[in-house]
Amino acid sequence: MTTVGILGGTGPAGRGVAVRLASGGCDVVLGSRDAERAQACAQALVARGIDRITGAANEAAAECDLIVVATPWDSAVATVSALRSQLKGKTVICMVNALAREGREMIPVYPPRGSMAAQVAFALPESVIVGAFHHLPAALMEDLDSGLDADVVIFSDHDAARQRVAELVDATPGLHAVIAGSMSLASAVEAFTAVCISINIRHKAHSYVMLAGLAR
Ligand SMILES: NC(=O)c1ccc[n+]([C@@H]2O[C@H](COP(=O)([O-])OP(=O)(O)OC[C@H]3O[C@@H](n4cnc5c(N)ncnc54)[C@H](OP(=O)(O)O)[C@@H]3O)[C@@H](O)[C@H]2O)c1
Repeated sequence: MTTVGILGGTGPAGRGVAVRLASGGCDVVLGSRDAERAQACAQALVARGIDRITGAANEAAAECDLIVVATPWDSAVATVSALRSQLKGKTVICMVNALAREGREMIPVYPPRGSMAAQVAFALPESVIVGAFHHLPAALMEDLDSGLDADVVIFSDHDAARQRVAELVDATPGLHAVIAGSMSLASAVEAFTAVCISINIRHKAHSYVMLAGLAR
């Protein structure tokens, strides 16, 4: 059984991923800077009937088999850098988008290495980085009755790691894995989230990505 630790797991994105992965059979640890906040967050989900979720400090979440980075973009590098030794040799999924709000739009922010996945990879040279979950609306992820039926675009320079994440995604209700390719796609995948959120703001919606023309 895969255990998944989510750094910054108390936010909407982390909770949404946790609910979905737990409903697919993973044991999930919501990580936080504050273990008590994470425990309270996990208990609230368990009280809603979602099993397999516990809360802990980010340091404890980092002990899991597979790690998801779900902090705001401007704290992701500091968060993973502090956990570099625990994350050594592990697959780390980066779902972080660098974005800025401008009026009714989100615009992409390009960090020095072009993408947040690349920033995290540079901070964790002994870990394997996979990008996934960027375009998923957290509200629909957390609600198992939302009818979510989304494609999850996955990229990594490590074939075995992206295959592993794809299998995890395909075992998760409402999600379908689409391996796009290598880390060179990271900035395009992350920047497209600005398009998705801008559409959602303009149309007062929670739209998500479904790619036509692929076998499911
Ligand atoms: N929201 C979405 O629909 C969505 C969808 C796909 C991807 N994403 C991406 O997922 C990430 C998280 O999104 P979110 O909406 O959940 O964000 P968020 O609520 O702003 O932050 C998530 C968690 O990160 C922790 N955090 C906040 N500031 C921090 C800091 N300075 N240092 C370390 N940890 C900090 C907090 O947990 P503690 O206070 O408990 O430590 C917070 O609950 C973002 O990078 C976003 O681009 C979001």
